[in-house]
Amino acid sequence: MKPMNVGLLGVGTVGGGTHEVLRRNREEIARRAGREIVVRMAAARDLEKARKVLGGSIELSDDAFSVATHPDIDIVAELIGGTDVARDLVLAAISSGKHVVTANKALLAEHGNEIFAAAQEQGVSVAFEAAVAGGIPIIKALREGLTANQIEWVAGIINGTTNFILSEMRDTGASFDSVLAEAQRLGYAEADPTFDIGGVDAAHKLTIMAALAFGIPIQLDRVYTEGIAGLASEDIRYAEEFGYRIKLLGITKKVQEGIELRVHPTLIPHRRLIANVEGAMNAVLVKGDAVGPTLYYGAGAGAEATASAVIADLVDVTRMHTADPEHHVPHFAFRSDRLSDTPVLPMGEVRSCYYLRLQVVDRPGVLADITRILGDLSISIEAMLQRNPVQGEPYVNIIIITHLTREKDVDAAIDSIEALPVTSGSVTRIRIESLDGK
Ligand code: NDP
Ligand code: HSE
Repeated sequence: MKPMNVGLLGVGTVGGGTHEVLRRNREEIARRAGREIVVRMAAARDLEKARKVLGGSIELSDDAFSVATHPDIDIVAELIGGTDVARDLVLAAISSGKHVVTANKALLAEHGNEIFAAAQEQGVSVAFEAAVAGGIPIIKALREGLTANQIEWVAGIINGTTNFILSEMRDTGASFDSVLAEAQRLGYAEADPTFDIGGVDAAHKLTIMAALAFGIPIQLDRVYTEGIAGLASEDIRYAEEFGYRIKLLGITKKVQEGIELRVHPTLIPHRRLIANVEGAMNAVLVKGDAVGPTLYYGAGAGAEATASAVIADLVDVTRMHTADPEHHVPHFAFRSDRLSDTPVLPMGEVRSCYYLRLQVVDRPGVLADITRILGDLSISIEAMLQRNPVQGEPYVNIIIITHLTREKDVDAAIDSIEALPVTSGSVTRIRIESLDGK
């Protein structure tokens, strides 16, 4: 049978890894796909650099549009990144009748609704396993493996760079900047690493997972997003004293009033498997009503790990190539005419437990003032700890762990505590998730 011809757009970390794994596992992949899958053409800006990666046999062009629309190409693999040129390329490929495979979560989070509508119209597939959690087949799990379930919640470590930074800072005491530079050298970080640090990359991935889990449209603008830049090493230390690890989590949950969609540093009990996911590894916990909690773990970034997901999509698309589009698995698990308009909850309505750290003057009556503020807002305290000041400083650290509370009540309490004359600076607030499978 004629091979399936791939047009590779981008020969960087993921493009290079995809070429290498396709080359190395060529026969095994063909046995699975039913025909060979070959990179027929590739596009890059620096052709000399790309030639060194691809060798001499693949046709190279610095005009990515000519590759995306070339009549010999069956599947376009968009591995350029970004949202401008990538969007135009993907839409051009779709209107030329090509299937598309992409690792580009930013593109899907911003323009996914438009891209999937165009693909549906043309009867082609847009596959995106590599866009969430690198090599972990979480898209396949959410879309197909868990299809019997009502998904109740999804919570994941879905950014390798920030997990690498948090792990290294805790284990080696290395500085934030030096660990970030290492993550960049290893190819984990986005072209703009503030996407990683600020939680935006995780938000991109979370909105895609929420669409798959709940059959809702992609809604990047509704994701509450908080990164790791504000975390202090003392919070990592105090969290450990209470038996927690801090991880940047993407969480989406269906509750009675709507859907929660949030990315933020989170305290997780250290005995949970997911609390022990270190380095650039990712893990996603999915709770289904029938199956209960399930956990997916693996490399969330890196050349060959991500290539593994890209190639899984190439094989899937190859297998379905001749099928009637009506028989394709829906891009987002639910049929596109059966999407739900369940609202995304504003962050103020979300309920969670909280870690609060305040710096206050150490004198009688101060704790009473603080507990009165919390009590007036019906915020119940689970545990409290006082740590003595560094020698010569007038303030002590008070750490409070609350029971389940509404975020807007905690916001109000923080405002009142910060307004007390005995309080120094702002209150640190980190959310806590038990992730106990309930
Ligand atoms: P890189 O920066 O390593 O590679 C991007 C490639 O695209 C480079 O070869 C670059 O060429 C090429 N390129 C950029 N613009 C153009 C253009 N206009 N025409 C032709 N080629 C172009 O990025 P990654 O491989 O790391 O990431 C690619 C995608 O995969 C992104 O969407 C990223 O978010 C996603 N991803 C990355 C992961 C990772 O671990 N790195 C994991 C999961 C997803 P040149 O070098 O010549 O400028
Ligand atoms: N920058 C991303 C991360 C790459 O660190 O997880 C994988 O999507």
